[in-house]
Amino acid sequence: MLNREYVTELLTGKDTTKHKSRMPARIDFLQSVSGLLLALFILFHLVFEGSILLGKEAMYRLTKMFEGEPFIEGGEPLIISVLAFIIFALFILHAGIALRKFPSSYREYRRYIEHKALLNHNDTNLWYIQITTGFIMFFLGSIHLYMMMTQPENIGPYASSDRIYSDWMWPMYLVLLISVVLHAGIGVYRLIIKWGWFDGKDPRGNRQRSRKIAKVLVGLYLLLGLASLGTYMKIGYEHQNDYGKRYVEQKK
Ligand code: HEM
Repeated sequence: MLNREYVTELLTGKDTTKHKSRMPARIDFLQSVSGLLLALFILFHLVFEGSILLGKEAMYRLTKMFEGEPFIEGGEPLIISVLAFIIFALFILHAGIALRKFPSSYREYRRYIEHKALLNHNDTNLWYIQITTGFIMFFLGSIHLYMMMTQPENIGPYASSDRIYSDWMWPMYLVLLISVVLHAGIGVYRLIIKWGWFDGKDPRGNRQRSRKIAKVLVGLYLLLGLASLGTYMKIGYEHQNDYGKRYVEQKK
């Protein structure tokens, strides 16, 4: 049954029931923490992956650094597998907890859409974008993480570009990029509002400021991601006749 309390709970993420169990609050907290960790990861991921904008050599060196080359001769891709496994576990935990906020039947969904049209409230629309991008990421994020976990040796200026261009992964990355940047940006903004992090003496003004900063960051990260994706595609296009050949480090 979809009553007023349930809709409020869906939109605000707050538990409106009166019972004494601490469980919903704990689960809520776990969702915030896992989401924040994932958002931080993405913040760094898109910058590191954007190293291709500085050239093939820069991306190669960074990849080798993540493989632990300073300590292990030639690097060890298994380190990337382990990292991807940890992120995948966090991703599944976060998505699993989020499932409880999805409308659980078509009727509930219709009622929610009617509610949304009636309110046309900014934060309601943000919630809708987050549910939609989250749903997309269930699938695309899993494909990407599984690939990184099982083929960590295929990361590099040519290997990544061949995958993106010749293996036709770019449409997936394009949709994943837009989804993840919107989802993380809106997610962190909602966390700021929910936990009142920067409310200070002027909550209204500070919330508006947070909103503006979140919008600028989303825009910048989208630009960075698109520029990187375009660069991988260009390299992949130029490298298509040598598909599969790996990048060789330039002599120092
Ligand atoms: C440890 C885990 C991860 C590793 C090692 C990793 C690695 C990479 C690499 C090497 C690329 C370049 C393309 C390629 O080689 O295929 C890439 C692209 C990308 N990754 Fe990840 N990734 C990880 C987790 C994630 C997660 C959790 C997400 C979001 C759900 C994500 C979203 C993306 C997106 C959107 C792109 C394309 C970026 C662009 O368009 O510039 N990645 N990742």
